[in-house]
Amino acid sequence: MVFERMPLEIWFDTYQFEVDYDIGESGMKFQTVRELDLDLNEVELRYGYHIGHPDLRQIIANQYQGRGAENVAVTTGASEGNFCVIAHLVNPKDNIIVEHPTYPSLYQVPRSLERDLTLFKLKWEDGFTPNLDELRKAVKPNTKLITLTHPNNPTGSVLSESTLKEAIEIAEDAGAYLMVDETYRDLMFDKPPPLAATLSDRAISLTSMSKTWGLPGIRIGWVVADTPIIEAVRAIREQVTICNSSLGESIAKAVLENQEKVLAKLREAMLANYDIVKEWMDGQEWLEWIEPRSGVVCAPRLRNGKATDKLCELLVKKYRTFTVPGSRMELDGHFRLGFGGEQEELIQGLKQLEKALRELYG
Ligand SMILES: Cc1ncc(COP(=O)(O)O)c(C=O)c1O
Repeated sequence: MVFERMPLEIWFDTYQFEVDYDIGESGMKFQTVRELDLDLNEVELRYGYHIGHPDLRQIIANQYQGRGAENVAVTTGASEGNFCVIAHLVNPKDNIIVEHPTYPSLYQVPRSLERDLTLFKLKWEDGFTPNLDELRKAVKPNTKLITLTHPNNPTGSVLSESTLKEAIEIAEDAGAYLMVDETYRDLMFDKPPPLAATLSDRAISLTSMSKTWGLPGIRIGWVVADTPIIEAVRAIREQVTICNSSLGESIAKAVLENQEKVLAKLREAMLANYDIVKEWMDGQEWLEWIEPRSGVVCAPRLRNGKATDKLCELLVKKYRTFTVPGSRMELDGHFRLGFGGEQEELIQGLKQLEKALRELYG
């Protein structure tokens, strides 16, 4: 078993603090403790409940019709939830099918654990939406878990309700589970499909406070699933993190208690930023894209078919602007553009991107 660093995270660790304009992040603007305006003075910095404070689990469960607190495990971001579900469900000889592209740990964890991994590719020709005939064909007798990520990082493609239900059927027919990474679901441009875990005991929802809420620093995410899976998550994390940060849980609880009010503002900011990116892309001679259907990321590519590493390196080193080369997410020829940040930073970042494109290809 070999745990190697992920190229995406190496890129972040190297450059994310070295820029003036960040148009590569995958979430909404990071919030400060001051902006949240919470009184955290009485939070006891003790060990917590191992799968999350019961009040927090209940607030989360309220969003999942037909599910209770016993179906919720609060984890150290979606990352830990992903690790626990894979480690529990996919045994050494089992197969896992992971939709690709996606956030790399979804496929890197099975690689590290040396599981039989099948990548189920989203294609440009299909608008990066899943082709379920191909998913059905990819299923093997030893398939135990299928994962999908929608709204997708980095393409911004979405899952319709009928596709979600059919994907669950495919998993059920195979005696497997379907896990949907719903990290961007609160950032749908239109009405979202149902939460996966509300549809079947064979369906698992995975999500996070990191993206919509701009709170990756609190490291809070969760898994909603049938209770044996929740118990397995508890066992695994007792050997790794034991419990969540008590400050992180307090902040998550306060934010989720107020979510309706805050969500409306976040969605407004997202849609306004999207209009800016769309207008900019419409005028682009060097780039083309599949328009994202939701979320705050998209994956344009160079019309000349070249790799984007040179572009992203020039951008970060000379123009102090952060994007993500597609090679870091195994999507060569594309790069990730994020539009969840401050509007002015986005506008300036796009100007820098234009300069870099002109320098290389003008
Ligand atoms: C789709 C998706 N899932 C999971 C994660 C991990 O998020 P976290 O561990 O911060 O919750 C990310 C981060 O970029 C992501 O984009």
